[in-house]
Amino acid sequence: MLIEAEGLSVEIGGRPVLTKESVRCEPGTMTALVGPSGSGKTTLLHSLGLLLPVDRGRVLIDGADATAYGSSARRKFWRDHAAFVLQDYGIMDEESVAFNVTMESSVLRKRATGDHQRLAQVLEQMGLAGRQDEAASHLSGGEKQRLALARAVYKRATVLFVDEPTASLDATNRQMVIDLLADFAAKGCTVIVSTHDPEMINACGHRHKIGSSAPAPRLVDQPSH
Ligand SMILES: Nc1ncnc2c1ncn2[C@@H]1O[C@H](COP(=O)(O)OP(=O)(O)OP(=O)(O)O)[C@@H](O)[C@H]1O
Ligand SMILES: [Mg+2]
Repeated sequence: MLIEAEGLSVEIGGRPVLTKESVRCEPGTMTALVGPSGSGKTTLLHSLGLLLPVDRGRVLIDGADATAYGSSARRKFWRDHAAFVLQDYGIMDEESVAFNVTMESSVLRKRATGDHQRLAQVLEQMGLAGRQDEAASHLSGGEKQRLALARAVYKRATVLFVDEPTASLDATNRQMVIDLLADFAAKGCTVIVSTHDPEMINACGHRHKIGSSAPAPRLVDQPSH
């Protein structure tokens, strides 16, 4: 899916956080949202994922104005297409690893349902083999991040919104995550990553620097003395 921001402005608490951001994230590519801490990378990522309302401008999904979506169209986008790997991981700590991946469980017994073979495969791929019945609260920070990625893989998401995916990982796991995201893009997914990590940025075909799409401020004539 093609995800675009067109002249997007967001204010939080009356303070402008994003000003006229325009970015185009194409299917089959990884786009890095870059900029210093506090520049608005996470805010832009959340806006593109329809998690945050915008004050001005539009988010377009396959050319359609998603800022005009009602809550059911938004939910449909999240359910059918999007996966989020966010800074707080979006993990339900009290639930099992398996449920966190499949997001399906029987009502009577709180056991994860879904495709068990596929679940096992995905957990193995993410270095979490055999841990499906553990509570997610047992996992370390890096393991939770991989669990959030396992959910995206299991779901076969077509658009990935990923916030600082390599921040808390060691070199081996960092490379694994970069390769995994590149693999998503190679399969035609739209991958959007907020990141500081030079290796992650290098792996992205497109880079969008926050603030670079706003027109330069008009120069004021200097008084001549
Ligand atoms: N819920 C909020 N309430 C108040 N201010 C907020 C909120 N969310 C973001 N901001 C402010 O918006 C600005 C941009 O924040 P954002 O999290 O998008 O930056 P970032 O580029 O992702 O930074 P980092 O690299 O540190 O993750 C910051 O100044 C932040 O304080
Ligand atoms: Mg951030």
